[in-house]
Amino acid sequence: MSLLAVDKLDVRLGGRSILNGVSVSVPEGGLVTILGRNGVGKTTLLRTISGLYRPLAGSISLGGTEIGGMAPHQVVRAGVAQAPEGRQLFGDMDVIENLRAGSLHLSRADFARRVEYVSNLFPIVSERSNQPAGSLSGGEQQMVCIARSLMGSPRVLLLDEPSLGLAPMMVARIFDLITSIRANGVAVLLVEQNARVALRTADYAYVLDQGRIALEGPAHELAGDERVATAYLGG
Ligand SMILES: Nc1ncnc2c1ncn2[C@@H]1O[C@H](COP(=O)(O)OP(=O)(O)OP(=O)(O)O)[C@@H](O)[C@H]1O
Ligand SMILES: [Mg+2]
Repeated sequence: MSLLAVDKLDVRLGGRSILNGVSVSVPEGGLVTILGRNGVGKTTLLRTISGLYRPLAGSISLGGTEIGGMAPHQVVRAGVAQAPEGRQLFGDMDVIENLRAGSLHLSRADFARRVEYVSNLFPIVSERSNQPAGSLSGGEQQMVCIARSLMGSPRVLLLDEPSLGLAPMMVARIFDLITSIRANGVAVLLVEQNARVALRTADYAYVLDQGRIALEGPAHELAGDERVATAYLGG
């Protein structure tokens, strides 16, 4: 059964239809990827799940409870966290303060417990805890961004282009970490333009094209499907 179920979602922004009848399912503990060219609506899908955009039609449910139309903080409380495109850290603030900003609702004890948990996954968090986030490399900042999104113990993690702008070595490390997060029982919905790496890591994939799901299937099948590279991803 799916943990996160997006069903026939329609989203309009600025008077334009951006998503049309989009249905996506993420099973408990699964790793699902959304691929697609620039501007097809990938970020819009994640932002709508997070409650930042209100859908015009369709439903979004988490463990059977409707979360479509909830405010962003309610969606977070329900168990969905997002590591946004472009990381959006507070560059002048220390790493630990960035984590605090993402978990103001936690008690001191819970905060300390979660810092320990994310530090095990991302040692950078404890090694650099008192350095300004803006002084870290792009890959390190991506780790802090993902660590921040894990502070509230989400059931589903939404990742928007975590590999963007990173060197291949760092991309490999980030994907190893995504695999570890998922091995810890957190379901992941991963938006990526790096189709090759995403299809190697995910169980199931969707290709979004101009606001519609153009293709979907087990990741290993899409990896061998020529249409993915030629028609939809411009590769
Ligand atoms: N707040 C907004 N108001 C109006 N139009 C928007 C808004 N946000 C995005 N759009 C438009 O919606 C379309 C999809 O944008 P979106 O950011 O979801 O695409 P994307 O697939 O994430 O692209 P990228 O690969 O560049 O990150 C684009 O045409 C974009 O211009
Ligand atoms: Mg985007």
